[in-house]
Amino acid sequence: MSGHEFESHFPESGSVDMSDPTTDIDETTYAELRELAGRYPQPRSALLPMLHLVQSVDGRISPKGIEACAEVLGISTAQVSGVATFYTMYKRRPAGRHHVGVCTTALCAVMGGDVLLETASKHLGIGVDETTPDGRISLERIECNAACDFAPVMMVNWEFMDDMTPEKAVALLDDLRDGTEVRSTRGARLTSWREAERVLAGFPDGRADEGPSAGAPSLLGLRVAEDKGWAAPGDDKPHGNGVVGRVARTIVHAVQEVTGTTEDQEPNVATPASAPTKSAPTKSAPTKSPAAEKAPRQRRRSTRPEEGTAK
Ligand code: FES
Repeated sequence: MSGHEFESHFPESGSVDMSDPTTDIDETTYAELRELAGRYPQPRSALLPMLHLVQSVDGRISPKGIEACAEVLGISTAQVSGVATFYTMYKRRPAGRHHVGVCTTALCAVMGGDVLLETASKHLGIGVDETTPDGRISLERIECNAACDFAPVMMVNWEFMDDMTPEKAVALLDDLRDGTEVRSTRGARLTSWREAERVLAGFPDGRADEGPSAGAPSLLGLRVAEDKGWAAPGDDKPHGNGVVGRVARTIVHAVQEVTGTTEDQEPNVATPASAPTKSAPTKSAPTKSPAAEKAPRQRRRSTRPEEGTAK
């Protein structure tokens, strides 16, 4: 190693592939990158959507894409690639026409997520983070997609495929490979990964409302509450009387029940040793006074190990 050259001790950690200079980024892309930068008070806030746009054009984070983002935002290419390599949603190698994710986080794993991943890998003949030789499908192991009530879950181009089984996975992969029209189990027609990336960049394709916004399993708690006549206080509060407002109020109500607080009090988040319980309330329960508001924060800080403390 010489001078200031950087030596990586993690050669497999997935840096951007600088050996492939091919790109489709042109003046139109530059104009759209500038448009995205112009949507924010601080232009560099646009970097995440700009990187999605780069992926929609080049199918990956390309060297030219990094350069273009840096140029438009007036920051260094190192700053751009630092962001691009931090998030797994940015691909350092070309993704397939369809990008398939299989969730193997706890709940999906319990419901068969690992078996799904193994099935997909064997059926496609590729490993995780690889793309089929014909470029049609890439495969990724993904973390929880907040769809645990539909576990095990797969994603195609970030659209949900709920309640999957190995058989359904094989049929799905065959359809994707054959170019058959596929719909998410929630209704949306699947586009290509690049098209989905363009939408994520902030250029809607007009199909955001395809399919229901919430499935039955997600609304089950609400149904139970309705059946039992449970109601959260404040039906006319700002969240409104739609599904979101009712779910929000039900959650708030449940938290208040557990913490023994009322609508005008903050939930007690003190450490177990000092936390007042519902059966033994103390006068130190949080109030709206500035001093009392500060107290729980101080207690939380005090639970953290001191810097330099031996483990
Ligand atoms: S664990 Fe798979 S979606 Fe939550």
